[in-house]
Amino acid sequence: MRTHLSADLNESLVDQQITLCGWVRRRRDHGGVIFIDLRDRAGVAQIVIDPDFDAPFQVANAARNEFVLQITGTVRKRPEGTENKDLATGTVELLASEIVQLNGARPLPFQIDDEDAGEAVRLTYRYLDLRGNRLQHTMRLRHKVTSFMRRFLETRDFIDIETPVLTRSTPEGARDYLVPSRTQPGSFFALPQSPQLFKQLLMVSGFERYYQIARCFRDEDLRADRQPEFTQLDVEMSFVNEEDVTGLMEQMVRELFAEVIDVKLPEEFPRMSYAEAMRRYGSDRPDLRVPLELVDLKDIMENVEFKVFSAPAKDPKGRVAVIRLPGGNKLSRQQIDGYTDFVKLYGAKGLAYVKVNDASIGRDGLQSPILKFLPDDVVTALMERTGAQTGDLLFFGADSSKVVNDALGALRVKLGQDLDLLEGEWRPVWVEAFPLVEYDESGARWQAIHHPFTAPVEEDLGKLESSPGEVISRAYDMVLNGTELGGGSIRIHKPEIQARVLKLLAIGDEEAEEKFGFLLKALDFGAPPHGGIAFGLDRMVAMMSGCDSIRDVIAFPKTQKASCLLTNAPGEVDTKQLHDLGIRLRQSANTVVETSE
Ligand code: AMO
Ligand code: AMP
Repeated sequence: MRTHLSADLNESLVDQQITLCGWVRRRRDHGGVIFIDLRDRAGVAQIVIDPDFDAPFQVANAARNEFVLQITGTVRKRPEGTENKDLATGTVELLASEIVQLNGARPLPFQIDDEDAGEAVRLTYRYLDLRGNRLQHTMRLRHKVTSFMRRFLETRDFIDIETPVLTRSTPEGARDYLVPSRTQPGSFFALPQSPQLFKQLLMVSGFERYYQIARCFRDEDLRADRQPEFTQLDVEMSFVNEEDVTGLMEQMVRELFAEVIDVKLPEEFPRMSYAEAMRRYGSDRPDLRVPLELVDLKDIMENVEFKVFSAPAKDPKGRVAVIRLPGGNKLSRQQIDGYTDFVKLYGAKGLAYVKVNDASIGRDGLQSPILKFLPDDVVTALMERTGAQTGDLLFFGADSSKVVNDALGALRVKLGQDLDLLEGEWRPVWVEAFPLVEYDESGARWQAIHHPFTAPVEEDLGKLESSPGEVISRAYDMVLNGTELGGGSIRIHKPEIQARVLKLLAIGDEEAEEKFGFLLKALDFGAPPHGGIAFGLDRMVAMMSGCDSIRDVIAFPKTQKASCLLTNAPGEVDTKQLHDLGIRLRQSANTVVETSE
């Protein structure tokens, strides 16, 4: 239907007759002459319709935004002074001789490319929002990313294998999405939280190098960087150690950033242990662009009278730490109150601070509501430990380690952003040497920090039963600018070690058999040493395209409430369908489901 795309228009085509197809982005009536900006997948071209050409003029006159047109005409140079430097095709235009209206369009619920249109209406008419520049760009970028990944992996002998979507619960730790079985009433499939178990089975099958761009499903509380269904680049390899996996993946990410967005990541990503990340940044996904760190004060504060500090300092599970903010004594009372409210979101009870007005004269140069509680030797030690200088401000956190890490960890990032402190644009880091297990929220049970198939390091095997909390795992996360891009591990390939870890996690024989007996059995049939990783593809593309939310890089995303405004999913189903599935809804609220009881 067309001879060219809008982006092809340039001076070499002047005087030629061509045909374009596309949408009316804008129509302007300049007293007689009509101008149409015609959009196609490649860009925008300016069409001129002269009233002397009656037939095309009538069609152009009736056209409205987003009408679909086929336009034939002659390319000509724009008159001097009317060139548009914003358009790649801005020095030429098409003088229309024939226009066919291929379709009309109703008045739009919002103007395409209107950044101020509400999110709800944009999601309801997602196909229109996708027509706009921003989403056209992110979708194309996403395609370039997956295309690059496929090429990179395929040239290194990886093969793409699909794994089931109707399956059993997988052990990623979120809530499952369930699908009722019609053929076995009362039984349910779970949608996979990741292809973890299947990719391990593929290693047992001898494929050695697998990848998949895999859809994963997790019913969890949604945030800007989480969706109920999202995509992973999922990778698994046999006969590898940590360096084999992380080295190859680091190379892939480095080349990906260079090729797709022309960003040069460091030649070698720094590596940091989990313990160091928590100690210095209060987080296992530190944003290294922020030049602020947590400094421990536990030993200094143990014996002060101020209970807010001394109690957690004495508690083995407590932490007392401080962030030194250079130049921070300029912060107003109101700003400090704002940060105090901010840390309360993370469970902190307050945010004590000290302003350093003059570091050279000891406590008289300091200003703080808590100064009166701190004896001279503590003040001296504090100044030394933090290296505080005139003009600084110290922010304190004192509580359980978890609260202090969460609160000060988030505060340092917020300070970095608010006060424009970020250093460097792209700061990747591998976080490694995670503990294998941690206590769950109730404190009664060990749970895997990654998942139950992550291998412990060889030298800690002896501690699995005696001091599990000290066992280090063979897991690794790739973190970029404070976001966890991906995570993986070397897996357990020996059945007896897997059995010991499951026992530690209090997953009984019966439960293990029921949940992933097939994997345990497979380990018995010559499972090779193997390991892998999965990257959050949506997160990676969001970062690469500078989007705040992964919604902006997913064609048809869900809302915060995990619904799709476009299709109105999830929706009600008719009683017949429920009957077939052996499901009865409770009378009062048809959102609550009962199976056979
Ligand atoms: P994990 O659970 O760490 O590991 O997930 C890997 C990566 O997936 C991304 N991600 C998400 N992205 C968007 N929305 C979500 N709800 C969401 N949840 C996770 C993150 C994360 O780093 N099977 C293991 C991997 C392995 O061990 O090989 C796994 O799924 O970027
Ligand atoms: P209070 O004695 O409760 O008035 O607190 C004195 C100062 O300590 C105030 O600036 C509080 O914000 C701060 N504060 C209280 N609890 C904590 C805590 N757990 N960690 C850090 N600062 C705190």
